[in-house]
Amino acid sequence: MENTAEKKKIVLSAIQPTGTPTLGNYLGALKNWKDMSEGEYNCLYAVADLHSLTVRPEPADLRRRTLEMYAILLALGIDPEKNIVFIQSHVPQHAQLSWLLSCCTQFGEAARMTQFKDKSEKHPENVNVGLFTYPILMAADILLYQTDFVPIGEDQKQHLEIARDIAERFNTVYGNTFKLPEPFIGKIGARVKSLQDPSQKMSKSDPNPKGYISMLDDDNIIVKKIKSAVTDSEAKVRYAEGKDGINNLMGIYSCCTGKTYDEIEKEFDGKGYGDFKSAVAEAVVEELRPFKTEFNRLMGDKAYLTECAKNGAEKASYFAQRTLSKAMKKTGLFQL
Ligand code: TYM
Repeated sequence: MENTAEKKKIVLSAIQPTGTPTLGNYLGALKNWKDMSEGEYNCLYAVADLHSLTVRPEPADLRRRTLEMYAILLALGIDPEKNIVFIQSHVPQHAQLSWLLSCCTQFGEAARMTQFKDKSEKHPENVNVGLFTYPILMAADILLYQTDFVPIGEDQKQHLEIARDIAERFNTVYGNTFKLPEPFIGKIGARVKSLQDPSQKMSKSDPNPKGYISMLDDDNIIVKKIKSAVTDSEAKVRYAEGKDGINNLMGIYSCCTGKTYDEIEKEFDGKGYGDFKSAVAEAVVEELRPFKTEFNRLMGDKAYLTECAKNGAEKASYFAQRTLSKAMKKTGLFQL
């Protein structure tokens, strides 16, 4: 972030600490976070703990999961010295900017968000206002850092669009303040499906644990889950409409091995689903192995994690304050 002469593009993304991330989170977002963090961009990655309050987690669980999620980001191989890795609530500018942006968001446009509609239907007992204003806080996360690219899975695309709309409206009303961010969505892996119901996205809140692979699942559990994945009766490994289960496994295999769909079809020509599933399982196990070892090591060094989180928050705060001050000034809030 310091070297402005290099004019590197800025990347920001965040993940909620609502449980161990799934293979969907990994292939849709986290794998790209890691790849983008290796020098080409200035990257900021956050644990979105404020967002997760919308589902009212147990305080002790939230505290534990936040540090675990922070360790997960480092265990991916994201270097906290070269990138800014922080916990959202440690940078108060996010909540502050969120208020300014709320006043530039129309009720109707927030009410159109499909995630809000889905979540309020699924949990009618807790449709809190935070769930409704969730995308505005997400817009603040992004706009505070003059972000160019936001690596996300497809389910977050609509939230990115509203962030752009809010930024554009603010810029029109008060003068140019925020850069308009672009989503960065991988071609394959952007929507990993449930292994049990491939019409649904793979999600850590799925009540059926066979539907998702958690990034910290034991190797034998990963193998079992992939072997019991829903397929079809054609018994031919090919990517085609109506073969959602196989298409999903092909996407997973492709992301883990770098092979194209054509190459995969050739590799399994004349072979059954049993062979294919064994290969997918092995590829996933191998992909996650180094990450799991590193996660366990890092969890044994909480002092290091806390120190990194503190440094990350300090660095993020510096950049966040620059944009927040600019936005506050433009709106006419009295400056001391
Ligand atoms: P969250 O925590 O639900 O998910 C983190 C990331 O994982 C992606 N993802 C998937 N990708 C492919 N297939 C799936 N089955 C799958 N499930 C999840 C999500 O798209 C996401 O990229 N609101 C965000 C967190 C957030 C954020 C931000 C993101 C807060 N502030 C600012 C970007 C920028 C969320 O709930 O993600």
